[in-house]
Amino acid sequence: MKISIIGAGNVGSLAAMRIAADGSGDVLLIDIVKGLALGKALDLEDARPLLKSNYSIKGSDDITQIKDSNIIVVTAGLARKPGMTREELITKNAQILKDVCLKIKELAPDAVVIIVTNPLDIMTLFALKITGFKPGKLFGMGISLDTARFINLISQELHLPATDIEALVIGAHGEGMLPLPRFAKVKGVSLDEFISDDKIESLINRTINRGAQIVANLGTGSAFFAPSAAIASIVKTIVKDEKRTIGLCSYLNGQYGIKDTCIGVPCRVGKNGIEQVMELDLSQDELTQLTKSAMAVAQTAAQLFA
Ligand code: LAC
Repeated sequence: MKISIIGAGNVGSLAAMRIAADGSGDVLLIDIVKGLALGKALDLEDARPLLKSNYSIKGSDDITQIKDSNIIVVTAGLARKPGMTREELITKNAQILKDVCLKIKELAPDAVVIIVTNPLDIMTLFALKITGFKPGKLFGMGISLDTARFINLISQELHLPATDIEALVIGAHGEGMLPLPRFAKVKGVSLDEFISDDKIESLINRTINRGAQIVANLGTGSAFFAPSAAIASIVKTIVKDEKRTIGLCSYLNGQYGIKDTCIGVPCRVGKNGIEQVMELDLSQDELTQLTKSAMAVAQTAAQLFA
């Protein structure tokens, strides 16, 4: 299994380390900056005896090396600065993504592609249109990260282990994100049995703002520990054909009554990528918000083709 990661910044290089250490396959790290991916790959290779794992990791500034990859993770692009929304990155990152996608189409047309570049939902839709790939084979990472954040914050609030908590986030990986408290459970018991509506509202807002809070504290760059863990988990699910349900940014063609756009929804994932979009039984209000979030993605992405 050949797994290529395009973009050797914080998210890409840490994802490379996690994917390699998981034993998911032979990892190739690519970056346009001369020497960056190779330097990081050499460093990661040195860690093999210490991590007691004989993983394979390579690095290059030559994107043609991605030829015949089975899985490609795209993290290339600029990260937001304090005070910026993910949407403000759109023009620059679309340019970067277009070049990368055309190379993927030419060199690895059968790969499963995971888009991580922000603004994530818009970039995923853009990448789908550029490559013409089947929707199940190209999708975005987004809300699996947001789901982890929601679970983490619930766990802190309740002083209970994160591993006992189940939760769902749908919608855009951005301002249109929808953490769904109705689906949040602690070992099967609904969240509203534990805390007040006000506290739940605050958890929702903190989840939506978590990425921005991290950016504000870092001063430069955005989150990378949890994003890279989310990527490695998706890759492992594909490699092992686990059929797990993960929140991903998927193309919708009628599911939830939404057509021809990409948005975050739970998806069953296996060796072919997204094998099924799961349709939750949403309330009218939740559905209205999801539709609004999805339409905003379609409208913004349309500007890229104008
Ligand atoms: C975040 C960036 C990676 O949510 O989108 O932290």
